[in-house]
Amino acid sequence: MARLNRPTAEQMVRRLKLSGSEDVLEVGVGPGLGLELLHPGARRLCGVDPSPTMVRMASCRVPAAEVRETGVSSLPWGDASFDRICSMNSVMLWPDLRHDLRELVRVLRPAGRLVIAVRDHSIERKYGGMLRSEIDGVVDTLRSLALSVKLGHHQAVAYIEAVR
Ligand SMILES: C[S@@+](CC[C@H](N)C(=O)[O-])C[C@H]1O[C@@H](n2cnc3c(N)ncnc32)[C@H](O)[C@@H]1O
Repeated sequence: MARLNRPTAEQMVRRLKLSGSEDVLEVGVGPGLGLELLHPGARRLCGVDPSPTMVRMASCRVPAAEVRETGVSSLPWGDASFDRICSMNSVMLWPDLRHDLRELVRVLRPAGRLVIAVRDHSIERKYGGMLRSEIDGVVDTLRSLALSVKLGHHQAVAYIEAVR
């Protein structure tokens, strides 16, 4: 999986367009590959994951990151805390997409950028992912929250890029 995830993490970070002065949040950090690649480009780096094991692994891997043990549904930060928010291979596990996407938008600053990467099962059914209709549902929900949204693909991974 790690071998497959690296290109996804690289694409996700590239699409975030970091300049080094942004406060960044990753949701569903897992063992910390995304955080590792985000770290050089972020001013402040935070992450969440509901799994204590993943929080421990990610924190060991990137000690500079502030990783909290919680899910996406109730983020422990105030409104408009982050310039960039990202997530890879996690959105298909979120319990209440409409609520959870609204929670992301709550902590995203005006003009902030959000990138969600998820395997597109309509292209290749492998590991965790979503059908195209489910991915379109994420896009529609973000648009209904007044974000400007673009959907792109690289290999079998969908990248939902949204700007507030
Ligand atoms: C397939 S792993 C991906 C980990 C990492 N992003 C990667 O691609 O290497 C999915 C991750 O999402 C986390 N997760 C599950 N439910 C979640 C939720 N409600 N909110 C945030 N993260 C969640 C899991 O604990 C797990 O670490």
